[in-house]
Amino acid sequence: MKKSLNIVLGVSGGIAAYKVAYILRLLTEAGHNVQVVPTQASLNFVGSATWEALSGNPVNAQVWDDVAEVPHVRIGQAADLVIVAPATADLISRAASGAANDLLTNVLLTATCPIVYAPAMHTEMWLNPATKENVATLRSRGNLVIEPSDGRLTGDDSGPGRLPDPEEIVSIALGVLSEQDLLGQDIVITAGGTREFLDPVRFLGNSSSGKQGVALAVSARNRGAKVTLICANVSVPLPVGVTIVNVITGDDMLSQVLKSASTADVIVMAAAVADYKPKIKQTSKMKKSADGSVPSIELERTVDILADLVIHRGTSHPDQVIVGFAAETGDDKGSVLEHGIAKLQRKGCDLLVINEVGPNLAFGTDDNEVTILTRDPASQLTIPKTSKTAIAHAIWDTVISLQSHSK
Ligand code: CTP
Repeated sequence: MKKSLNIVLGVSGGIAAYKVAYILRLLTEAGHNVQVVPTQASLNFVGSATWEALSGNPVNAQVWDDVAEVPHVRIGQAADLVIVAPATADLISRAASGAANDLLTNVLLTATCPIVYAPAMHTEMWLNPATKENVATLRSRGNLVIEPSDGRLTGDDSGPGRLPDPEEIVSIALGVLSEQDLLGQDIVITAGGTREFLDPVRFLGNSSSGKQGVALAVSARNRGAKVTLICANVSVPLPVGVTIVNVITGDDMLSQVLKSASTADVIVMAAAVADYKPKIKQTSKMKKSADGSVPSIELERTVDILADLVIHRGTSHPDQVIVGFAAETGDDKGSVLEHGIAKLQRKGCDLLVINEVGPNLAFGTDDNEVTILTRDPASQLTIPKTSKTAIAHAIWDTVISLQSHSK
């Protein structure tokens, strides 16, 4: 991907237009040249002065401005990427019908680069069969129409139709230009940490934030995969453009993973799943004993989901790639790496991502340092401290390389 892109940011007439100033900021700060093309209606929400000041480029809404430069053709032809945010029901309808009745729709017709629409409208409009058909038409032409978020709309109402977060829109839109080397793959990722309840309010848990699992989901989505993200108590924002399944306990996670596993090409167990759970879950809150005695909690093993997936992969899905994570600390019995190698053999997965845990390491941080092991001892890959997104891409590169070798 080129470092500095020519991006057209189309803005149509919805109240969410004010959030698009932040999208523009994110794009220019990343070094891209952005040409904002507002519709006339959108100027009721955000005026040209804002777009000109933030983009550093002049802004026109009409085909009749600067005619000598033929902007209705030139802007679309010069673009590496077009993002329309917010895309209103009216704009989507005009784009689907091939109308060319303002500068933005002319740009959409002349652009030969990828076009990404981020719709925002009231739920009824989004769910209306007319809008659904228009969205399907745009998608059938290869345009990316992002699913709107579900949440508070302009008034008191809430539902699907909210503009996704600016960071998400930028990540998805730029992701379209990444190599689509996971296109067509069905990928299941677990993230976060499970909770095993002692009573209705207390649980045994762990401090996994889910950041690595979310980074895996976003990077796989951007590389073209269909992603299901099974989240156990994830404390970071969840991405759009992937199917989210929320779970709490290890048992919930087991049943959701097994549900998705039968069709998955790749399963990544990035979640920290409890190894033990209380044998008995009290139905009411445990009270302190009057005599000061301390209760003992009897634990039992949980199902090892990763090992279970390996056992049941069987003959129906021999090419399925199963990825495990290992949070390790070195001790007198061996180093972090030695424990990791033993775990890969014990669990029988295809790939194991080992990270050392401890204060400021792995859990909750933005960066990490990992070693990726496959069953080929010669292919050990150590990735020095870098972002969880960079680690996610390295994991996908290794998965793709394993898949190409097994063909
Ligand atoms: N895992 C799992 N089901 C469990 C426990 C762990 O699927 N009940 C998965 C995790 O998602 C991770 C891998 O197994 O991908 C390694 O988990 P970890 O807790 O580090 O290893 P353990 O198997 O628990 O081994 P040990 O505690 O002995 O280090």
